[in-house]
Amino acid sequence: MTGKRADNIVILTGSGVSAESGVATFRDKDGVWSKYDYRQVATPEGFAADPALVHEFYNARRRALPGVEPNAAHKALAELERGLKARGGKLTLITQNVDDLHERGGSQHILHMHGELLKSECAHCGAVTVSAAELSLDLACERCKQAGGMRPHVVWFGEMPRHLDEAADAIANADLFVSIGTSGSVYPAAGFVAEARALGVPAMELNLEPSENAHLFTDVRYGPAGEIVPPWVSEILG
Ligand code: APR
Repeated sequence: MTGKRADNIVILTGSGVSAESGVATFRDKDGVWSKYDYRQVATPEGFAADPALVHEFYNARRRALPGVEPNAAHKALAELERGLKARGGKLTLITQNVDDLHERGGSQHILHMHGELLKSECAHCGAVTVSAAELSLDLACERCKQAGGMRPHVVWFGEMPRHLDEAADAIANADLFVSIGTSGSVYPAAGFVAEARALGVPAMELNLEPSENAHLFTDVRYGPAGEIVPPWVSEILG
C-alpha cells in the first residue's frame, strides 16, 4: 500500500466474493465449469443450438438466488462505498458476477460487466426487463409482446462486456485498484490490473489464493473474502 490515502478506489470482484454466501465459483474444484461445458450454456452458439438447455442453466441459478445471502465481504464493500463518499471520495465497484448479492449487501453503484441474472432481454426489440421469472422460448416480451426472443441479460463468451468505458475512466482516475475473488482468467476484466499499473495506479489483490496475474499486484492478501475484506475496509476508512 502506498502512503497516500486512497479516496478514489476501483474494485473488481469475481465469484470468489460470493463463495461464502454459497454461490459456486467457476474454476475451483466442483466449480460451475466442472459441471457444465461453457460452450453449451454460455455462448451465443450454445444458445442458438439449444435455448432450452441455456434457459434451464440460468433459471436454476436464478431460482437459487433467494436462498443465498450477502456475506461480510459484500457488506464491507457497501460500507466502503458510503465511507468514501462521506469523505469526498468514490468507490467504483465493477463486478463480473451476475448475482444480486452486492445490491443486497447495500452497494448502490455497481457495474455488472457480465450482466445480471435478474434481468432478461428481448432479441426482437432489445428491451431489457427486470424479471426473476423463469425464462423460456414461450415467454413473450413485456414490451413488444413477441415470444421466442427472450434471453438472459448476461454477457456470454465472445460477447462484449458492459461498462468498459466507465471502468477505464475510473481506473485512470483511481488512487488504488483492488481485485477481489477472481482468478484473473477472463479478459477484459483480467486486464484491468495491467491497465492500472501502466497508469501508475497501485494494485491490490484480495483472494483465497494467488490469481493468474498475482505477479502484477503491488500488494496481496490471501484468505476468504469474508475474513480479509472487512479489516481491509476498516484500514481504508481509518
Ligand atoms: N474468498 C475469496 N476468494 C475466493 C473464495 C473466497 N471464499 N473462494 C474462491 N475464491 C477465489 C478463487 O481462488 C479464484 O481465484 O475466487 C476465484 C474464482 O475464480 P473463478 O472461478 O475463475 O471465477 P471468476 O474469476 O469470477 O470468473 C470470471 O469467468 O466464467 C466466466 O463469466 C464468468 O464472471 C465469470 C468469469
